[in-house]
Amino acid sequence: MGLRVLVVGGGGREHALVSGIAGSPRLEALFCAPGNPGIAAEAEPVRVSPEDLEGLAALVEREDVDLTVVGPEAPLVSGLADLLAARGRAVFGPAQAAARLEGSKAFAKEIMEAAGVPTGRAAVFTMLNPALAFLEEHGAPVVIKADGLAAGKGVVVATTRQEAEDALRACLSERAFGDAGKTVLVEEYLEGEEASLLALVSDGRVLPLAPAQDYKRALDGDQGPNTGGMGSYSPVPGVDAQMYDHIVHTIIRPTVAELADRGISYRGVLYTGVILTADGPRVLEFNCRFGDPETQVLIPRLKSDLLDLLWATATGADLPETAEWHPGVCVGVVIASRGYPASSSKGDAIEGVEAAAGLPDVKVYQAGTACKEGRLVTAGGRVLVVAARGKDFATARERAYEGVGKISFPGMQWRTDIAQRAAGRG
Ligand code: GLY
Repeated sequence: MGLRVLVVGGGGREHALVSGIAGSPRLEALFCAPGNPGIAAEAEPVRVSPEDLEGLAALVEREDVDLTVVGPEAPLVSGLADLLAARGRAVFGPAQAAARLEGSKAFAKEIMEAAGVPTGRAAVFTMLNPALAFLEEHGAPVVIKADGLAAGKGVVVATTRQEAEDALRACLSERAFGDAGKTVLVEEYLEGEEASLLALVSDGRVLPLAPAQDYKRALDGDQGPNTGGMGSYSPVPGVDAQMYDHIVHTIIRPTVAELADRGISYRGVLYTGVILTADGPRVLEFNCRFGDPETQVLIPRLKSDLLDLLWATATGADLPETAEWHPGVCVGVVIASRGYPASSSKGDAIEGVEAAAGLPDVKVYQAGTACKEGRLVTAGGRVLVVAARGKDFATARERAYEGVGKISFPGMQWRTDIAQRAAGRG
């Protein structure tokens, strides 16, 4: 029996998921809500917002969807998986109780502490004065984190006490992040290489995917403001099989087990952001969904049938011990619009996407795009990801940047150093 699948979301991550699912022989029909012009080439777009849980549930009933794959975190934290499960529909993405791992950083710390998972020390505050007193005692550098979802803007790495104080005031006094910042974590600053480890988790079963790395700063050399991610690559030379195994056994499995001990099952992808400190790996964050732009470099490498894996995860069927991967590596370069990340530019005509996508081993995933009078135009901050596979990082980089070179629109910006260090390591 073929599967009828709905992907929720409309960014580059969802474009990569749709592309992966579209290649499955098990697929009968593929919908995406709301999708984007790139996704529309591979799935039927449906105008329902990811925040409109009832609208999504109605769509699932109307189209008799067998499996809903949820891209962004907000619908999961709001309980989309619970709503659909209550109607007997399979969902790839955890229930609300498990999505709190991303929805509340204080909850994630509590789980890690209870499970003995290595992470930075943190203190939790709801009042400004005690937070300032703690800061006075401990000084900077320090990391200030809004507890709840803040559209990727709730984390400040404060190198000075003044920056930390400003971040605390923004959250606790000025309510810059609304309720998401009414609780704040003041966390130990850790140093080391970062990596994103995504694992499919289905109750007690864990299938680690290949490690990836993203680039959060806007400018070359990790300068400039934080963004949603300006590029990525996979695998990560610093995370060899032994290190990954260590992380699975000391971080991922104990976290899933601690949730299970509390009666919380997890079915979906668990994204663990780790930092490889001199004292070993430490968790920076958990997310309850695929990473963006990590997914855009994982899917092109995946040889296993993506839909099989998603379906098995969602339905509690057995998962293989390992996924199969194409040989080589993948590098993804994000192209953003003028003003990003402070603002974004809309309506600029985009040229060259087809030419870039026609290069060997290159995929172009669309994110902030729209169709206006038959032309592809910008419609957001992160516009496209050009992802290229290659036998090594130097080859993949060259192909990805060749693809970037074919694309043009007024004000386009991109980093030129994605995977440069990895290429230097051979
Ligand atoms: N790339 C970071 C994230 O998806 O949260």
